[in-house]
Amino acid sequence: MSAKWYTNGKGNNVKVLVCDSYETLSKKAAGILAGIVNVKPNAVLGLATGSSPVGTYKELIKLCEAGLLDFSQVRTYNLDEYYPIDPENDQSYHYFMNVNLFDFVNIDKANVHVPDGNAPDMNKACEDYEAMLDEIGGVDIQVLGIGGNGHIGFNEPADVFVGPTHIVELTESTIQANSRFFEKIEDVPTKAISMGVGSIMKAKKILLVANGAGKAKAIADTLEGPITPQVPASILQLHHDVTIIIDEAAAAGLKEYHA
Ligand code: F6R
Repeated sequence: MSAKWYTNGKGNNVKVLVCDSYETLSKKAAGILAGIVNVKPNAVLGLATGSSPVGTYKELIKLCEAGLLDFSQVRTYNLDEYYPIDPENDQSYHYFMNVNLFDFVNIDKANVHVPDGNAPDMNKACEDYEAMLDEIGGVDIQVLGIGGNGHIGFNEPADVFVGPTHIVELTESTIQANSRFFEKIEDVPTKAISMGVGSIMKAKKILLVANGAGKAKAIADTLEGPITPQVPASILQLHHDVTIIIDEAAAAGLKEYHA
């Protein structure tokens, strides 16, 4: 298990940890989250779905089972949810969180928040979600994955950064990428409710995890490219406390790292 720190040479507050395996990456990410919960038992965690953080969640479950972590007072806010979708649907992000984390740790489900993909008034659902984030003063730490095109949450490459929680039309590439979880591509919802980049930037700390060659370009653009809404994750260069944990394959495009 080895890992090496790297900074992108831009003088900002992004720290990058390059790990020798997905297992190391997951253990390191879980260690950061567990540290926060141990210091602040009622910590507010911003969470993500997708394959990248699954190993991290497994490590958190192990720590909980070993009695080293207590979720009883933890509150969580997820990044996004498909729309329209019922939270009970086994393709919903709410369901994903239950089967990959919540059902296996001692969290009080009343403290779990996932955007409502089934709300009758979606605009109000977005406003209410953003108001909740404001009320808590931003999550203590936001876990993120990253899309191959640099998206975070469901904030796809665009001409402008969208600030608050909003409804998103999914791009063809995201529908394609997500279709691996559905029987047929026609079953993939075409919309989602997502925290905006502004909502994400309200987090006190950000922890992005990424692995595999498919993420190499997005990681290089995010860290070493310009800040542009064409690479939504590049906005993280402006955040005051970001840790990005990746494997060697995802680090392959980093010029500074390989210099
Ligand atoms: C998930 C999310 C997405 C994923 C991204 C990477 O809540 O917001 O931005 O983090 O699509 O997905 P994976 O990890 O499956 O490659």
